[in-house]
Amino acid sequence: MPSVLFVCLGNICRSPLAEGLFRHAVETAGLAACFEIASAGTGDWHIGDPPDPRSVDIARKYGLDIGGQRARQVQTEDFHRFDLICAMDRTNLTTLQDRAPVSATAELRLFLRDPLQDVPDPYFGGPDGFEHVYRMVAAGAFKLLDGLHPFRT
Ligand code: 4NP
Repeated sequence: MPSVLFVCLGNICRSPLAEGLFRHAVETAGLAACFEIASAGTGDWHIGDPPDPRSVDIARKYGLDIGGQRARQVQTEDFHRFDLICAMDRTNLTTLQDRAPVSATAELRLFLRDPLQDVPDPYFGGPDGFEHVYRMVAAGAFKLLDGLHPFRT
């Protein structure tokens, strides 16, 4: 079963949206049983917290419920447990590369790479930032699933 972990800084704004939207893409494709999907943060400030209310609200606006997620920090075992770890921005990717054990089996990559793009951190901005992030992540989630096409059986 392919397993995918989405990673941002706090695991309360961007990666919960990526987890929810990729799960939605997978369910829409009828592949829910085929994937393990999760998210985590490189930082530890929000461990155990629900997603930021602004992420919950923007997801709800588009019919997606992400309110049940709880933030957690990336663990060393994640580098073995997941096939693919998608960083939401290049800073997150560098942090992951620095923390990955030499024995890591997961592929580390940027979430948006065609074209190469950071999903901007919306935490300190206004609601427009969350709308922008939602749209980027929604498009990226469906593209990612298309790119994983070989996994489809
Ligand atoms: P995220 O956004 O990485 O998309 O979850 C942030 C959430 C919290 C903080 C920074 C970014 N923070 O500094 O607490």
